[in-house]
Amino acid sequence: MVDLVLKKGRIVFPDGIREGDVVIERGVIVEITPEYKEEAKRVIDCTGKYIFPGVIDAHVHMRIPGSPYKEDFTTGSMAAISGGVTGFLDMPNNIPPIISKKMLAEKRDLVGDNSFANYGFFFGATDDNVDEIKRLSNIAGIKVYMGQSTGNLIVRKDETLENIFSYGKFPVVVHAESQECLERFASEYAGEDSRARADYHSVVRPPECAREAVKHVLHLAKKYNASVHIAHVTTAEELDIIRKFKSEKVTCEAAPHHLIFDTTSYEKFSNRLKVNPPIRSKEDTEALWAGITDGTIDIIASDHAPHLLNEKDAPYEECPAGVPGIETILPIMLDAVNRGLVDLERVAKLLAEKPAKIFNIKNKGKIELQYDADLVILDMDLEKIVTNDKLLTKCAWSPFNGMTLKGWPVTTIVGGEVIYDDGKFVSAKRGREFNFEE
Ligand code: NCD
Ligand code: ZN
Repeated sequence: MVDLVLKKGRIVFPDGIREGDVVIERGVIVEITPEYKEEAKRVIDCTGKYIFPGVIDAHVHMRIPGSPYKEDFTTGSMAAISGGVTGFLDMPNNIPPIISKKMLAEKRDLVGDNSFANYGFFFGATDDNVDEIKRLSNIAGIKVYMGQSTGNLIVRKDETLENIFSYGKFPVVVHAESQECLERFASEYAGEDSRARADYHSVVRPPECAREAVKHVLHLAKKYNASVHIAHVTTAEELDIIRKFKSEKVTCEAAPHHLIFDTTSYEKFSNRLKVNPPIRSKEDTEALWAGITDGTIDIIASDHAPHLLNEKDAPYEECPAGVPGIETILPIMLDAVNRGLVDLERVAKLLAEKPAKIFNIKNKGKIELQYDADLVILDMDLEKIVTNDKLLTKCAWSPFNGMTLKGWPVTTIVGGEVIYDDGKFVSAKRGREFNFEE
């Protein structure tokens, strides 16, 4: 007898939506059929609901090691699972940053069995750790900060980028804001009162710093025919450049907060919306939606960057950049489907298929035979209000607090096991580190 059958769901495949049953045994999808007629240990009736691939959030900051008071792998993965995210890729800007093979091993030990969701790690590049990069295995990729953000990781030399690109073993994810440009604007605005204008952060980190960095790094990557992924694009100008270089090896992501908020939103949110790269103009958010529709934007990732509200509500200079998002990434996109901004098949590509493909994650990201049964059941008619008090992230707030969203995950399955159902955790932790193809 098989372990689990998801019955009569609208199954979201890469090439369309078809109704049927998904049959699961020993954690794997073993049959997809219009109607499964044998007995099963457990059957879930999915009538009227969608069976969707488990979301893989390719850009999160779980704060281990260094700041467990903001988030840890247990709280962060609970937030993930409740929001339909069955796996995530964690960034290396920890305290201390993950820049040696030894530190990565220590981080792996710290995470241990503490995650409800599957996970993988990025490794931080510096101007003198290329030798460490060459000793690594089973990582999601190398993270390059071209401009300074939260944490102190940065790559200043072209030579470093060239060495990483010519090594070529791992995907390279770039935080593309030019440090030289950021410093230029910082000194231009030095002495100005950051409180004088609500959009100060967007003014001191303008679009041209992102444009300069994207242009520069794509030229270098092209020279080495390297795989490069631009994290959180925010502007029309970046998308124009990316379109010129676009190939299987040149990919990019956008984050929900850059799709939803624009510089007029500071009025209401103030420094809570301080994030790198900054919130941009209304025209830029429209360009991002167009980039999603025309395929320039490959994935949506949350850049889940939890900081406590008392830190975020401090004056501009002390306020850390970053907003949480792992718990709301799927509902935000499902609500967009209901608003007619994007279709559900594309959301499956943006949130599951493409992240698995770009970062070479084995057996994940699609509803397909022999793929791992990391799945979410969606109720596209369910309406709920995002409420800070109800969130599971340790930082206990969301920039989307108060928003009514239509379209929510109701059941989350990891490795064939129902972990979360109807608002409750119903099974033990079973998150595992991803296997990455090399
Ligand atoms: C991130 C953080 O807080 O770790 N902050 C942010 O504004 N995005 C760092 C980062 O990815 O830039
Ligand atoms: Zn980030």
